[in-house]
Amino acid sequence: MANDPLSSEQSVQQLFDLSGKNALITGGTGHLGSAMARALAEAGARVVISSRTLGKAQQVADSLAGHQRGNHLAVAIDQLDETSVDLGFKDAVSQVGRLDILVNNGHDPLSADWETVTGEQFQKQLANATGYFLLARHLRDHAVGNKHQASIIMLGSMYGSVGSYPDVYEGICAASPAAYHALKGSVVHLTRHLAVYWAKEKIRVNCLSPGPFPAAKAPRALIERLNAKSPMGRMGMPAELKGAIVFLASDASSYMTGQNLIIDGGWTSW
Ligand SMILES: NC(=O)c1ccc[n+]([C@@H]2O[C@H](COP(=O)([O-])OP(=O)(O)OC[C@H]3O[C@@H](n4cnc5c(N)ncnc54)[C@H](OP(=O)(O)O)[C@@H]3O)[C@@H](O)[C@H]2O)c1
Repeated sequence: MANDPLSSEQSVQQLFDLSGKNALITGGTGHLGSAMARALAEAGARVVISSRTLGKAQQVADSLAGHQRGNHLAVAIDQLDETSVDLGFKDAVSQVGRLDILVNNGHDPLSADWETVTGEQFQKQLANATGYFLLARHLRDHAVGNKHQASIIMLGSMYGSVGSYPDVYEGICAASPAAYHALKGSVVHLTRHLAVYWAKEKIRVNCLSPGPFPAAKAPRALIERLNAKSPMGRMGMPAELKGAIVFLASDASSYMTGQNLIIDGGWTSW
């Protein structure tokens, strides 16, 4: 287990070491979630994968490496359903005893853009933020109740900071949904708010905002247009979030809270 960062200077290896820590990651079955789960496990944490489908989560948990290989766990959580959030969090705690890290990564997708989205679809998309909040509060209550520190990481997006380029999508697919932009902007700001309220309780809350990390099934023509908008001229690979997630989860970021770490190949720096 890493030492208290305030009591003595730790080596860089100690700072990034997650041995002895337990981490819950939602949507750990997905494109980015599975890479971040591998990172947490490889850094030494015992990882609890959540999915809406317990069997899928178990498969990912069984595939993870690190000191805790074979001990990683699975729970079912639908973040749009408050009862499921409550039960899933309780299940995670009952399996590991103590949770130190929460990665709010799951995302219930929406394809309807501003032209076609209904009010109900828009509200449902925003409910992803409600799920992030409810889980974050559970972790805060658990950690404060048991008198230990915790790190919460919210998955934002570059689209929580900047608008999208309409011409990138035109003629290929629906535009980046307005409701997604409202959601991710709110996640970035929710991070700041909770971080301030919980800082003295030693609960850190940070946001990790990926830029473009399209899944393999994304249309080639879209990727080419996105590449042209990227200073690096290419898309991100899921493994390029591994360093950032371990940094935010670990003592390496012990004096950082309320921040939005953007990993986007320079997209928001033009
Ligand atoms: N990929 C990108 O370019 C990009 C860019 C910026 C930000 N992000 C953010 O990064 C995060 C991960 O994105 P991704 O690309 O890895 O997406 P993804 O592959 O679609 O994974 C999202 C995961 O969320 C889970 N999920 C869906 N509905 C859910 C619900 N109602 N409750 C709980 N979990 C639910 C799914 O797991 P189950 O089906 O197993 O439940 C899925 O594995 C998201 O928050 C996304 O907004 C992604």
